[in-house]
Amino acid sequence: MAQVTNKDASVPTADLMDRIVSLCKRRGFIYQSSEIYGGINGFWDYGPLGVELKNNIKMLWWHAMTRLRDDVVGLDATIIMHPRIWKASGHVDTFSDPMVDCKKCKGRFRADQLAETPCPLKPSKTVAECDGEKTEPRPFNLMFKTTVGPIESEENVAYLRPETAQAIFAQFKTVLETARQKVPFGIAQIGKAFRNEVTPRNYTFRSREFEQMELEFFIRPDEAVEAIAGRVLEPDEIDLTDPRPDTTAWGWKAWLKYWVAQRMRWYESLGLPRAKLVEYWQKPDELAHYAKACVDILFKFPFGKRDASGELIGEELEGIAARSDFDLSQHQRFSGRPMTVFDEELKNAWGKLAPDKQSALRSRYRQSRLDYYLKAGEPPEKARALADADAEAFTKGYYIPHVIEPSAGVDRLALALICNAYDEDTAPDEHGNPEPRVVLRFQPRVAPVKVAVFPLLKNRPALVQKAREVYELLRPHMKAFYDDAGAIGRRYRRQDEAGTPYCVTIDFETLGEKAPELRDTVTVRERDSMRQDRVKISELVGYLLEKIR
Ligand code: GLY
Repeated sequence: MAQVTNKDASVPTADLMDRIVSLCKRRGFIYQSSEIYGGINGFWDYGPLGVELKNNIKMLWWHAMTRLRDDVVGLDATIIMHPRIWKASGHVDTFSDPMVDCKKCKGRFRADQLAETPCPLKPSKTVAECDGEKTEPRPFNLMFKTTVGPIESEENVAYLRPETAQAIFAQFKTVLETARQKVPFGIAQIGKAFRNEVTPRNYTFRSREFEQMELEFFIRPDEAVEAIAGRVLEPDEIDLTDPRPDTTAWGWKAWLKYWVAQRMRWYESLGLPRAKLVEYWQKPDELAHYAKACVDILFKFPFGKRDASGELIGEELEGIAARSDFDLSQHQRFSGRPMTVFDEELKNAWGKLAPDKQSALRSRYRQSRLDYYLKAGEPPEKARALADADAEAFTKGYYIPHVIEPSAGVDRLALALICNAYDEDTAPDEHGNPEPRVVLRFQPRVAPVKVAVFPLLKNRPALVQKAREVYELLRPHMKAFYDDAGAIGRRYRRQDEAGTPYCVTIDFETLGEKAPELRDTVTVRERDSMRQDRVKISELVGYLLEKIR
């Protein structure tokens, strides 16, 4: 086997992705969905190791985003919601990709990806270069449609959610009231989302069914910040190293910068090196219909777009969007339910402002509301009346919050962690001779299995019994795995491929057969350095917990 190193993603070998896909299948990380029927394009299942990896990702996200914060609460909403949600959100009208048909091969392709998509008839060429005649691009809505109830009619049409975010907006007032939160605060949700991608590709990267981890973080409009704090801080004035910053003077640009930094740090804490992460500020023509700014966190997978010098640019792991007050405003108009909050601090501050300041802030707030109503298609006269009413309410402490949205993909992160962890090196076999090994160098916190327990020999009941005891001791504390099949070297190799950071071996020393002082001690072998430590069984839980935290 040729040596493949994944230490430097700027020089990935051509077949690295093939090796990763093969490992994922062989070891039970990822399988093709419905494989016995030939599979279904764009859908993937996670096997025993894959589900552990995904659960670790979700648990770590939930922990960082909700448990460690006072200002974020959780939600778990349904996948199918009232169809007007998707009319209000803009997804029915605008959530589409440009699609073309090829009259020769009858394939359908993303118009903006023709140069990257191989031709089904001549795979050596891309669809952009083949001689099939193409139709003009037309929009293709990405939402999966279904009907609710026994009658298949237009009135019963519903959609599988294309993002979890809208449920958070729809339940915003209910959560605000029941959780007794105040702006700024956030609502976090993890769940499935569905997009009928024209061309799913890059393994699990662009799938039709996937899982999102989304936070909608609700903040004051900048005019309210200015009324309360006197001014809005520029992003470069905020101190991102302060664990408990005073956020009173933070406008949306500061909050955006804060969340980008928080999320970057989180990815690094999972073992993704900073050199493989890219902070990409979307250009105005790339922004989604709801966003006024968006920063993507990209990861340099061993696939994807390259720059002119051949360097990988990176593909999106997470988008952190400034969604303004667009979504809540839309739901207010479509549902007829107010989405405003009352902000006592704004009301109190307003009364103390000089009249010219009041007038300037009122007029700026009115203008931003007017821009929204006009963009939403309200007739000018009605838009002006609505903006006047909103500006009047603002002076009394009422507004619709703005939103910063860090939105991450569980499946993309699982793939990034696997790609980052994949490595090949050599390790001694049972006779001490070097042999090639595949190893997943997962950060222990994300590793699917934390510790494997082996009796040195399967046919010695005393070793097996002791190993089972150690396994039972560990399993309430961490994901442990017991294995007594085959030579010890083979067992190590299987765990290296699974990314298990520690292997514990029960041997004759453990039984006290060689030296009494080694009775009830075990060998703990570390995956990356392959170093072996002798640890007392009575100290093993604490020893391992310290290392896998
Ligand atoms: N909520 C943003 C997205 O789904 O991309």
